[in-house]
Amino acid sequence: MTSPDPVDHPFEAAEASAAAVAAATGVDRHDVALVLGSGWKPAADRLGEVVAEVPMVDLGGFPAAAVQGHGSTVRSIRSGDRHVLAFMGRVHLYEGHHPNVVAHAVRTAVRAGCSVVVLTNAAGGLRPGMAPGQPVLIADHVNLTGRTPLLGPNDDRLGPRFPDMTDAYSARLRALAHEVEPDLEEAVYAGFLGPTYETPAEVRMAATLGAHLVGMSTVQETIAAVHAGAEVLAMSLVTNLAAGLGHEHLDHHDVLEVAARSADRMGALIAHIVGRI
Ligand code: HPA
Repeated sequence: MTSPDPVDHPFEAAEASAAAVAAATGVDRHDVALVLGSGWKPAADRLGEVVAEVPMVDLGGFPAAAVQGHGSTVRSIRSGDRHVLAFMGRVHLYEGHHPNVVAHAVRTAVRAGCSVVVLTNAAGGLRPGMAPGQPVLIADHVNLTGRTPLLGPNDDRLGPRFPDMTDAYSARLRALAHEVEPDLEEAVYAGFLGPTYETPAEVRMAATLGAHLVGMSTVQETIAAVHAGAEVLAMSLVTNLAAGLGHEHLDHHDVLEVAARSADRMGALIAHIVGRI
C-alpha cells in the first residue's frame, strides 16, 4: 500500500503514519513526542523501557535520514505512566526536503495523541559566557530559513491559518524544566537553512537580531507543533561557540563529541521533565 505524500497531503500522511505507529508499537496513544537532534540519541536510553522500535521508513512519509549522528528509528518508550514517542533522528531542510517532510514527524506525533512535543538540537552559542556542553532552553526563535510548513492553502484539520507564536515555546514547560534545573539559561534560537555553518558576519547579524543560539533545525517543527495546538519544549546543547567567536574551526565530528560527553546529563534532564509533564 502506498502512503499519502506529506508534501501534498500532510494531514492524511500524518493520520496514516500515526495509525502505523499504533499498529507497529501496539500503543494506541502516545503522550509526549521527543525529537532527538545531533548527539542526543544516548539521552533516549535513559528515559525508560523501550516498548518497541520501528524504522521510520516503515511508517510512511519519512525519508531515510542521512546525516551522521542521526538515527532513523522511532521508539515507543514507557517513562513512568507516560508513553513517549521518540524520533531517534530528524530530517532537515538542507537535505533538500520540503518543509512538510521536515514537519511530518511532529504532525504524526500529534495525530498519535501527543499534546507535548520536546525538540532537541545541537547549536552554536553566541551569548557571552556560553560554553560547549551547556544545555539551554529555547524561549523563542527567529526563523531565518525563509521556509515554513504552513505555506499554501491552510488545512483546518491541521490547525488555524494564522497561528499565534507568542508562547510558541511553552512558558509552562520552561517553568517545569527550571524546577529540574534552576540554572538552565533561556535563549533565542536563530534557525538557518545550512548546511554551511554560519559566516562570522551572519553570527554577528544573528546577535543583532536578538539571537543567542544558531542552528539548522527545530523552527519548522515548532511551527508545525504550534499550528497543531501542541505545547513545545525545546532544548539546545551548545556544542561550539558560533563561528568567529571561538578559536576553533567548526567540524561536525567535534559537535558530536561534545554531545556524546553530555549525554548522561541531557538524558537525566529529559527524563525528569517528562516525568513532570
Ligand atoms: N551553527 C549551526 N548549526 C550548528 C552549530 C552552529 O554553530 N553547531 C551545531 N549545530
